[in-house]
Amino acid sequence: MNQIIFYGCGNISQTIIKGLILDGFAKKNILYIDRNPLNKKKLSQYGIKSADKSELTTTKNLIILAVKPKDTLAACKEISAVISAPQLISLVAGIKIKSLKKSFSSKASIVRAMPTSASTYKKGITAIYGERNSEELILNTKKLFSRVGISILLQEEVEMNNFTGLIGSGPAYFFYLLKIYNEHLLNLCGGKQRDVDAIIVNFLEGISSSISDGIDLDMAIDLIASKKGTTEAGINSLKDNNVLQLFEKGIISAINRSKEISNEYK
Ligand SMILES: NC(=O)c1ccc[n+]([C@@H]2O[C@H](COP(=O)([O-])OP(=O)(O)OC[C@H]3O[C@@H](n4cnc5c(N)ncnc54)[C@H](OP(=O)(O)O)[C@@H]3O)[C@@H](O)[C@H]2O)c1
Repeated sequence: MNQIIFYGCGNISQTIIKGLILDGFAKKNILYIDRNPLNKKKLSQYGIKSADKSELTTTKNLIILAVKPKDTLAACKEISAVISAPQLISLVAGIKIKSLKKSFSSKASIVRAMPTSASTYKKGITAIYGERNSEELILNTKKLFSRVGISILLQEEVEMNNFTGLIGSGPAYFFYLLKIYNEHLLNLCGGKQRDVDAIIVNFLEGISSSISDGIDLDMAIDLIASKKGTTEAGINSLKDNNVLQLFEKGIISAINRSKEISNEYK
């Protein structure tokens, strides 16, 4: 790999770029192509240079495709006009390798990666899927995304849908649940959002540390819940109201939506 070129450099690309820079990746080896003036301004502030389309022709350069699904076909056509057999990593949700390949020659190597936004803090989780004939690109993709978090290789492309619904969308579910904490804590902290933020950070880091210690989830609950105590009352109420089943329903809706998108862009 010589350089990486982000084709489409909005939210997720910038997230990854920040994580890579944090990991010591040389800025000069990160380039982008994007049409959005606001994104161009932000990238120039980070010291990231735009690429000329001719730079896509170097086969050793990795191209990371990160445009919205609706813009993907057009972007692939633009890329294939300058390089017919690129090394391409697609971050686009829902569009299968088979569909992406239609724009390129049979020698193109295409891998899918689904990163999470915490890549910006090197806390990302990236699912990677590639076909058997793309081993080298799969390896390079894994190496790249391991710099901004952990990455997992999927055995089947269809598993991308499960990963997207479970982990890709996952942070949003937790942000959503935290809204209830935010609201109650604001009352306790006299409306001081900064204090609330500090509490939520410690709260979540404490939970993370327990998991890092390898604690079993049921045991973790038992350690807090005492007989006839407050936690037991809270947990029982959550159980009585089928909160786990409802939460799972939300996740399944996201997985199903990911499958629908795959079918929309065949
Ligand atoms: N956001 C996430 O957390 C996340 C996580 C995993 C995967 N993804 C996937 O990543 C992809 C990008 O998501 P995003 O949230 O980063 O989108 P985004 O913020 O809209 O960024 C896409 C950028 O690409 C530009 N663009 C589109 N077509 C172009 C073209 N032909 N030539 C040059 N620039 C072009 C867009 O310009 P305009 O604004 O002018 O359209 C925009 O600046 C999506 O397919 C999404 O499924 C996102």
